[in-house]
Amino acid sequence: MDLFEVMRSAPTSRRFKPDPVPRESLVRALDAARFAPSGGNRQGWRVVVVEDHQRRAALRDLYLPHWRAYLEHTGGARMLEDPDSFDAARVRMVRRADDYAKGLDEVPAHLVVGVRLEDLAVTDAALPRQSIVGGASVYPFVQNLLLALRAEGLGAALTTLLVPAEADVRRLLEMPEDIALAAHIGVGYRADPWPERLARRPVEEFAFAERFGEPLR
Ligand SMILES: Cc1cc2nc3c(=O)[nH]c(=O)nc-3n(C[C@H](O)[C@H](O)[C@H](O)COP(=O)(O)O)c2cc1C
Repeated sequence: MDLFEVMRSAPTSRRFKPDPVPRESLVRALDAARFAPSGGNRQGWRVVVVEDHQRRAALRDLYLPHWRAYLEHTGGARMLEDPDSFDAARVRMVRRADDYAKGLDEVPAHLVVGVRLEDLAVTDAALPRQSIVGGASVYPFVQNLLLALRAEGLGAALTTLLVPAEADVRRLLEMPEDIALAAHIGVGYRADPWPERLARRPVEEFAFAERFGEPLR
């Protein structure tokens, strides 16, 4: 697949066939993803691949309470209780995400992505707002991984709701204390066909020329 085609066609996959993920595909994807940039080229990402069913079930149990809290907090829970009062496409997405969470142990391969905190150059730490820059040294790697998995014909779901359970995940996977959790990626062969196109905003809505708001032509 051509790079642009991969970029335009890597949706969140939440329903998978039970088939295992070939180890060669995973290693090839990781081998491509490692060319991501990172501050100072520190390459602080670390990945644990989990396929053991008991461990997958443990990850689901750690994920679920945070997913349920998120559902409550964002109004998703009300959508599931009273679907006819909400936009059908949103209800469908929330339902899929809910089914994904409940069946997380059935997802064939789980990539738990962490990052060594000492490898992060957090240049906005002193600003009077939420810091965002630390993530810039790990999420380019994560996105590379998603694209490489797509090129391998694999579906994937990036989520971050395991991060609040970081201490338990660390214990479960015997991860060192200096590694912070950044993402969880569920991987497998999609049970559904690939979508024709992804719902994304056009360039003119987010990119400007010279001054914010000035159309880019
Ligand atoms: C930071 C981040 C967190 C996300 N968390 C969740 C999540 O908790 N559960 C879920 O089902 N999808 C999660 N997603 C996937 C988004 O819902 C998805 O990217 C978005 O709805 C676009 O969907 P599409 O790629 O299928 O078009 C997350 C994505 C990102 C980038």
